[in-house]
Amino acid sequence: MPENGFRLLPLDDDSWRLEAYLRRGGYETARKVLTSMAPEAVIAEVRKASLRGRGGAGFPAGVKWGFVPKGVSGPKYLCVNSDEAEPGTFKDRLVLLRAPHQLLEGMLITAFAVGIRTAFIYVRGEYALVARRLEEAIVEARSAGYIGPRLFGTDLSLDVVVHLGAGAYICGEETALLESLEGRRGMPRVRPPFPAVVGLFRSPTVINNVETLATVPQILARGADSFLSRGLPKDGGTRLYCVSGAVRRPGTYELAVGTPLREIIEVHAGGTPEGKGLKAVIPGGLSAPVLLPGEIDIPMDVDSLARAGSMLGSAGIVVIPEGTPMLDVLHATARFYAHESCGKCTPCRIGTSWILKIVGRLRRDGGRPADFDLILRLADGIKGKTLCPLGEGAAMPIQALVTKFRGELERAVAR
Ligand SMILES: Cc1cc2nc3c(=O)[nH]c(=O)nc-3n(C[C@H](O)[C@H](O)[C@H](O)COP(=O)(O)O)c2cc1C
Repeated sequence: MPENGFRLLPLDDDSWRLEAYLRRGGYETARKVLTSMAPEAVIAEVRKASLRGRGGAGFPAGVKWGFVPKGVSGPKYLCVNSDEAEPGTFKDRLVLLRAPHQLLEGMLITAFAVGIRTAFIYVRGEYALVARRLEEAIVEARSAGYIGPRLFGTDLSLDVVVHLGAGAYICGEETALLESLEGRRGMPRVRPPFPAVVGLFRSPTVINNVETLATVPQILARGADSFLSRGLPKDGGTRLYCVSGAVRRPGTYELAVGTPLREIIEVHAGGTPEGKGLKAVIPGGLSAPVLLPGEIDIPMDVDSLARAGSMLGSAGIVVIPEGTPMLDVLHATARFYAHESCGKCTPCRIGTSWILKIVGRLRRDGGRPADFDLILRLADGIKGKTLCPLGEGAAMPIQALVTKFRGELERAVAR
């Protein structure tokens, strides 16, 4: 756990106020970085820390920043992804409510490292209180000289704009987010070119998750080696693990990267309630393939979850208790993706809606004998055939549920 000064979820009652952040040593790291470091040295330190993106894909932040072309004459942008619409994930909301200045300081350092003067924070449409608090923090930071022109007496500047989305899961996908910010319907773009080269308004753009950026100040304050001393040797620091579902203490836990899933559920979240056994766990938000109780002795980091055939994703852990009908879980999952598919790619648009129709008829009247195989084939027809990873995100959990709970599902629809 980082000491209070660097906690993403600080303990002080008024932790979101500038005054409280300054008490914790806030903005001192940005001052040091902007007045005494070279931008390349900042990128090198974040690369050395191998800070992996906390938004879902786990891509190393320092490497991404290094892709932004040097010496371009036009503008470059920073976009903070605060869309947070994946079921099971609610960590960024807490960072924004409790430590908005830590995000702003991380943005300042990132903007300096990449040569950016304008940043946008794309906030999920339903997060009205979050957006208000962010606006308040920006006003505080601007009046104290931490945002705006001539930062820390240098000729550097940064402007920050809060943009409220309209509540669509696809707008968390980085290129759909850019479309939405530009005023169009949120739909993914063809890649390459990647946003680091051609992004917002066709300019080089860094897109990072809230937690990723709020973690940056501690790396620059104490160095990459100290960051790597927590967590795993190649994946350092802490992560915010959200735990919901059948546990005694649901919530968000700030723990070392690689903390075992069993420990998070049983120790930190207090285990399942009295008399309820564990049936399954979704380890990284709804898109992450489900794990069985025998599979939860696993470190919670990007690589370990991938090796286990699942995904750390946004680290949203959903605990499913014994007695839950998995046909209902399958239906809720299918309904979410059919509703949220943006419709741009045919395999995702048609595939997700067919899967929902078939799961619906299975529930209604037992369906047809080959329906579960058909669902698996339809999911296979989405994977790898869409412009953005929403396709994989829809197909993988469906396939895992049908494969791992086939016996139960077949018994549930047998008449
Ligand atoms: C359908 C979909 C939704 C996503 N939603 C979010 C989101 O809400 N927040 C987020 O940070 N990343 C989200 N991502 C991942 C982003 O595309 C991108 O990888 C991320 O913002 C990069 O930041 P990071 O490298 O700091 O994680 C989503 C991806 C997909 C495919």
